[in-house]
Amino acid sequence: MKYQILVTLSFLFVFASCKKDKTLDGIDLELFKMAQETAGFTWYKNTDALLPKSSGSGHNFPSLRTRFNTIAATQLDGAGKIESTAVFPEGSVIVKELINDNGSLERYAILFKAANNENADANGWVWGYINEDQTISASATEKGASCISCHQQAGNIDYMLMNTFFP
Ligand code: HEC
Repeated sequence: MKYQILVTLSFLFVFASCKKDKTLDGIDLELFKMAQETAGFTWYKNTDALLPKSSGSGHNFPSLRTRFNTIAATQLDGAGKIESTAVFPEGSVIVKELINDNGSLERYAILFKAANNENADANGWVWGYINEDQTISASATEKGASCISCHQQAGNIDYMLMNTFFP
């Protein structure tokens, strides 16, 4: 009897710890995979150089760089800046890599244009904020609640702020 209780308890323990480790699922897992994909992306201003955090940034990391998948890159000009009239098409993925004090990539800020996604905001954007260690900083299910008020400030282009802060 004692043995059975012990076995049951250890199963419960293993189950509980598995559950705890599985932090990413659903849309956040999807966005994380999109962010980890780098093939075919174009860097803002055509360079992968790290940029120092801007004065306007709500992203509390010392440096960053931003890339656009092939669909999103249709809205960049020859210099790799966002066209002033840009409206990003469905399937656009924009990934900002946030780099910590140790120079390591710690977090992805992700914008995914998918108007029919259940997590999309009124403009069709899905907002992801996910750490490289697969923990969530702000779930996409929050629909950009902590992001939009800042990203809709004057000068934004379809919510993008890179042009404003890195002209
Ligand atoms: C207080 C202002 C502020 C908040 C809040 C904020 N951002 Fe940003 N974000 C910026 C600024 C400024 C930039 C331009 C680059 C920089 O300086 O970091 C930026 C850049 C980005 C970019 C690169 C594309 C572009 O041109 O804007 C993405 C993607 C992004 N943010 C996602 C998010 C997400 C997701 C959230 C919410 C979890 C969020 N941001 C919250 C200010 C903010």
